[in-house]
Amino acid sequence: MKESASASAPGKVILFGEHFVVYGKPALATAIDMRVTVKARPRRDARIFVNSIDVKVSGYCDGDVIHICDGDSKAGRKLEPIFSVVRHFQNVTGKSGGVELEIKSEIPASSGLGSSAAVSVASASALDRLFNTGLSRDEIFKISMEAEKIVHGNPSGIDPAASIYGGFILYQKGKGVERLDLDIDLPIIIGDTQMERSTGEMVNRVSQLRTRYPALIDKIVCLGEEIVTQALEALKNRNLEALGEIMNINHSLLNAIGVSNMRIERLVQAARDAGALGAKLTGAGGGGCIIALGTRDKISGIAEAIQNAGGRPYITKRSMDGVRFEE
Ligand code: PMV
Repeated sequence: MKESASASAPGKVILFGEHFVVYGKPALATAIDMRVTVKARPRRDARIFVNSIDVKVSGYCDGDVIHICDGDSKAGRKLEPIFSVVRHFQNVTGKSGGVELEIKSEIPASSGLGSSAAVSVASASALDRLFNTGLSRDEIFKISMEAEKIVHGNPSGIDPAASIYGGFILYQKGKGVERLDLDIDLPIIIGDTQMERSTGEMVNRVSQLRTRYPALIDKIVCLGEEIVTQALEALKNRNLEALGEIMNINHSLLNAIGVSNMRIERLVQAARDAGALGAKLTGAGGGGCIIALGTRDKISGIAEAIQNAGGRPYITKRSMDGVRFEE
């Protein structure tokens, strides 16, 4: 066995179709060039030790008991999905024994950019490299999904799919991932409301609204599918104006199902006023991030407008690389 092994995995933005994807509709996402890197080392004892440097949490798991070494009251909850990745890896591969994982992340947590999935995917992949187990992408997906269920409750799977495959992906529950062969560099500006929220809670909120208004919500969910179809067409034709307008329509539908709020609306409007071709919330909503589609000459103006409206802008590119081993 190696002394150590590293892997990294990207975050993602959902371009079109979040929430509707939970009800079996397709969604379109792209991996972004913000990554999580995990270094795995074997231990002499049976402990699973995790040190998440940027989140400032560390602790270990001995059998079923979690011990926190560093971190606040939420530390145990943050580490649990990572322990789950290791346990599922051990179950799938039969490789038992203690390990230590060191996690470094460029992706802000709980903001809709897929940080938890990137941590799970990179952790499973670093373990795969360390023990030379040759896991397939599908096995890494399944292991990561178990951790995502702990974090998000009833996730669609789009986050780990984007993180594993990289590039543009079309994802549909049950049908899986289609990696799209699109060579288009979208100028995307992310605006972070810096409001943490829980994806599980937002998904629940939509589900409760759907229980009260099934006919209305189901119609909106179906429109979500049409949005993705037309967005794909616009992407294939490199029609960024149309893509921006479809983004705006998608945002209105997300507003209609109750997942936007004032802080999100302020950033979306600021980006549009600064010349974005379109802007929408991305991910679960209720806080988290928005995305704006810019043109090259407008990127810095849009970023500045987001900042002035109280958000934190990130200028990012799509990443063609999904999960990868690192030296
Ligand atoms: O905010 P995020 O990155 O956790 O994305 C959530 C996307 C949803 O469609 C709302 C939920 C899901 O599991 O697909």
